[in-house]
Amino acid sequence: MAVKKVYVGLLGFGNIGSSVYKVLTEGMSAITHKENLEIVVKKILEKDIEKARKIVDEKLLTDDFSRILDDDDISVVAEFIGGTQPALDYALALLKKGKSFVTANKELLATHWHRLDKAARESGAGLYYEASVAGGIPVIKTINESLQANNITNIYGIINGTTNHILTDMSEKGRSFPEALSDAQKLGLAEPDPSYDIDGLDAVYKLSILASLAFHAKVPVGRIFHEGIRTVTTEDIANAAELGYVIKLLAIGKKNGASIEARVHPTMIPQSHPLASVKGAFNAIFIKGDPVGDLMLYGRGAGGPPTASAVVSDIITACQAQKHRYTTFYNDDEPSKEVTFVSDWETEYYIRLSAANQPGVLAKISGVFGKFGVNLASVKQRRPNGGSAPVIFVTYMAHEHAMMAAIAEISKLPEVAKVDNVIRIEN
Ligand code: HSE
Repeated sequence: MAVKKVYVGLLGFGNIGSSVYKVLTEGMSAITHKENLEIVVKKILEKDIEKARKIVDEKLLTDDFSRILDDDDISVVAEFIGGTQPALDYALALLKKGKSFVTANKELLATHWHRLDKAARESGAGLYYEASVAGGIPVIKTINESLQANNITNIYGIINGTTNHILTDMSEKGRSFPEALSDAQKLGLAEPDPSYDIDGLDAVYKLSILASLAFHAKVPVGRIFHEGIRTVTTEDIANAAELGYVIKLLAIGKKNGASIEARVHPTMIPQSHPLASVKGAFNAIFIKGDPVGDLMLYGRGAGGPPTASAVVSDIITACQAQKHRYTTFYNDDEPSKEVTFVSDWETEYYIRLSAANQPGVLAKISGVFGKFGVNLASVKQRRPNGGSAPVIFVTYMAHEHAMMAAIAEISKLPEVAKVDNVIRIEN
């Protein structure tokens, strides 16, 4: 059978773009052998042509998007420019012209998925986004193509490598948060402005995509609670270890009938949980489904080569598809009215506070927890430092709203200098 030849365009030639180009050139004979397909990169959009021409033939480079949009030979375009603009305008223009669009851009997909999906459906083009979540881990294909028979009820993801690297360093090397962050920046893992990763937004975009697919219902970014890792201290990590836990920035999705809960926050998980052994910049996604049971995918969630693995797989799928697939849930910027989002979830909590070292103080604090129906599982007071002593509470299952109300009242007690941290626990 004759080898099928497909021309593609690339948008962006940074770390990911150049890795994709490398796989599509150096790896093409193996791909052709396996897929009976030859993929030819015809044009690359790049602003910094001076830099890019050192790696790639200058004739391929352009800083004019219309050279890709108006090239009728090009049927698939992969994007790595990031952010929502101009990526959104480019994506919509390409899809409207019937060119399949492959993206690694979680923010674009999570916030404008419905528009991209509609444009793709209308022209019959393909929309592929494996690399948008967890880099090289094939979690999108796994959910879409291997778990169709399942009712997925739970997703627990370590889907941000930067924060996992920081928390691992704090836990294993005893580094403080600022030290571990600065190391991650020196290694090029964390951005100079690291807020996107450490405040949890990166994980929110990824969870929005994953949970929507897994629960077959749109989980918009705005419905996902998030809290970052800035408040986690080495003290919390040591306390967690003493209690048998590790702290991870976890992306959590749960579905019970038509109710969905979606949240990203530092979480204590048992040291024996498979996710506890996911260290450094690695990612993992733990899924519970019926009938599959427990399933975990592990791998590199970022970096040029792992991301290129996912992008090139999507390009191949786009080239080979007889008919492209689109989302089959109600995909709009607001979710379907049949779905409800839970904000008053139930979980266990760890609370660390500084209280006056005086008789009756613990009874007073415990009284407030009791007033809000929060059942305490353990209380431990550490050695006092001056007049105040660190106290660590662990609760049984409690409602989020009751817990936050209790914390607000406890914070106002004259005997409580500060509620230092509240960390949710998933057992
Ligand atoms: N900034 C992300 C992370 C990688 O730290 O995991 C890209 O998704």
